Amino acid sequence: MASVPSLASTLQQQLADALTAALPDAGTADPLLRRSDRADFQANGILALAKKLKGNPRELASQVTAALPAGDLIKDIEVSGPGFLNITLTDRAIVETLAARAADGDRLGVPPKAAPGTTVIDYAQPNVAKEMHVGHLRSAVIGDAMVQILEFTGENVVRRHHIGDWGTQFGMLIQYLFEHPDELRHGGDQADGEAAMSSLNRVYKASRVLFDSDEEFKARSRDRVVALQAGDPETLAHWQRFVDESKIYFYSVFDKLDMEIDDPDIVGESGYNDMLEETCRILEETGVAVRSEGALCVFFDDVKGPDGNPVPLIVKKTNGGYGYAATDLSAIRDRVRNLKADTLLYVVDARQSLHFKMVFETARRAGWLNDDVKAHQLAFGTVLGKDGKPFKTREGTTVRLEDLLDEAVERATAVVREKAEKVGLSEEEIVENGRYVGVGAVKYADLSTSAVRDYKFDLDQMVSLNGDTSVYLQYAYARIRSILRKAGDAKPAAHPELDLAPAERALGLHLDQFGAVLEEVAEGYEPHKLAAYLYQLASHLTTFYDQCQVLSDENPAEVVENRLFLVELTARTLHQGMKLLGIRTPERL
Ligand code: ARG
Repeated sequence: MASVPSLASTLQQQLADALTAALPDAGTADPLLRRSDRADFQANGILALAKKLKGNPRELASQVTAALPAGDLIKDIEVSGPGFLNITLTDRAIVETLAARAADGDRLGVPPKAAPGTTVIDYAQPNVAKEMHVGHLRSAVIGDAMVQILEFTGENVVRRHHIGDWGTQFGMLIQYLFEHPDELRHGGDQADGEAAMSSLNRVYKASRVLFDSDEEFKARSRDRVVALQAGDPETLAHWQRFVDESKIYFYSVFDKLDMEIDDPDIVGESGYNDMLEETCRILEETGVAVRSEGALCVFFDDVKGPDGNPVPLIVKKTNGGYGYAATDLSAIRDRVRNLKADTLLYVVDARQSLHFKMVFETARRAGWLNDDVKAHQLAFGTVLGKDGKPFKTREGTTVRLEDLLDEAVERATAVVREKAEKVGLSEEEIVENGRYVGVGAVKYADLSTSAVRDYKFDLDQMVSLNGDTSVYLQYAYARIRSILRKAGDAKPAAHPELDLAPAERALGLHLDQFGAVLEEVAEGYEPHKLAAYLYQLASHLTTFYDQCQVLSDENPAEVVENRLFLVELTARTLHQGMKLLGIRTPERL
C-alpha cells in the first residue's frame, strides 16, 4: 500500500512552507488553495495575511513565489489581481502522480486514516411482520454506502440493523398463532421472500380482525404481551417464528437491492430488552429522568408542544411499559460500552430527528455520550412521487419496495436490450446487466442528492442515458473497457515526458482528487459528494473523447499508451467509486 499525496496537498504544503519562509513571524498560515479556471490552482490566502501584517499583498506574493522550491511540480506561477497566485503544474508532475496511483491497486494511492476510530452505524432497520417501503430503501442505500466509504478510509465499522421486533403489537400476533398454529407456514421449499411476506400479512390481517371484534381475544392478547415481556419460553418461541419468517422476507429484499446484510448484525429492539430496566434505573438515580404523571420522563428547555408545555422524552410509560426511547438509550450504552464505539451514526428518516435529538441529549446528560463519544443522525428526507407528494401507489397505498425495484429492473433491462445486439450481449448478460443498471439507477438517484433533501422518484429520469444518472456512469466505464479490449497489443503505460492536451490535464487533475473527495465524504457523511465527483469524472472523460483520439493510427505509440493509461485509471476510479456507493459496473453494456 503506497500513500500518494495529491498534487493539491503537495502544492499546499510547498506554499505554506514558502509563506513561513517569506514571513517567519506570521506563524502558520493557510495559502487557501483552490482549483481555478484561469490556471490549475489559485492561492488566495496571501491577501488576508498581508492585511493582517499591513503589508503589500502583491509584494508578499512575489516573495512567496521566490521562496518556493525549484522542482518538477510547478510549471508556471504568476501574481494576479490584488495578490492572488495563479499556479499551473507541469504535465510531468500530473502523469507521475497518476502513475503512482495506478501502481497502488484498488486503493489508488489513497492512504487509510492514521488513527481510525470505531463507528457503529445503525441502518437498514425494517420492522418484523411489516412490508418494507421506500423509507427503508433510503436507510439501506445510504447506510450501505456509508459503511463501504468509512471502511475504505480505514475506520472500524460495526453494523447494526435495529429492526422493529418488539412491542405490544406482538401480543396480538403471537396469541393468534397460538390459536391457529398452522397459519404461518415457513421454511422448506417455499422459503422465498414473497411467500413469507404474504403469510405474515395473512396472519396480521386475520389477527387484527379478531382483535377488533372479539373482546376476549383482545384480553388474551394483552396477557400474551405480559408473557412475552416476562420471557415465557413458549411465547418467545412463537415470537421467534415471526422474526424468522420476516428475516426470510428481509433477505429477499436486500438481495434484490444487491446488498449484503449479515445475520449477527441484525440486533433489533428485542436485543436490548435485558438492559431496559437498568437504563431507567440509572437515569432516575442520576436525576436525568424524573417521574411525571406516573411516567419516567426527561425534559428539555427547548422542546415544547404547540400549547407551550414541555414535551418530555418518555423512557418508561405510566403502565410500566418501555418504548422506543428506552431501547435506543440502552442501545447507546451497549454500543459505547461493549462495542467500544467512539462514533454512533444513525441513518434514519428526518421525521425522527426530534426523537434522536432528545435521546442524544439524554445520553449526554447521563455521561454515555461526551466529547470523545459522539452521536450523529444522518437524517434523510422523503421520497416523493411525480406530483411532489410523498410517494404512493395509484391506489394511495405505500409503495412496496420490491415492486419498485422490479419495475426499475424491468425498465433498465429494456434500455440494455436496445443496445445489446450492437455490443453482442447474450440473453444472460442482458438479464444480469439489466439488474445492475436498474438497481444502480435507484441507488444512484437516492445517493446523488444530499440525503436530507426530499427527492422525486422518477424512473424515466433514473434510467436515462444522459444526465446525472448511474447508467451514464456505467456506460462511461463500459466504454473504457471496450477501448481497452480493442487496444490489442497496445498496453496502458504512463509517459511523463509527453505534453498533455487540455482535456487530458483536466481529466488527470480530477482523477488525482479521488482521495481528497473521499475524505470529505467520510468526514461529513455526504455520499452525494462522491456521486457528484464520479459524474464530473465521467463528464471530463466525455470531453476527453471529443478532443483526443485514443486508438488512432496517427498517434505515436507513446501517446496511445499514455491515453490508454489515463482511461484505464479513470475506469478503475469509476469502478471503485461506484462500488463504494454499492453500484456495479458491468464490463460490457
Ligand atoms: N425500525 C424503525 C423504522 O422503521 C427505524 C429504526 C431506526 N433506528 C433506531 N435506532 N431507532 O422506522
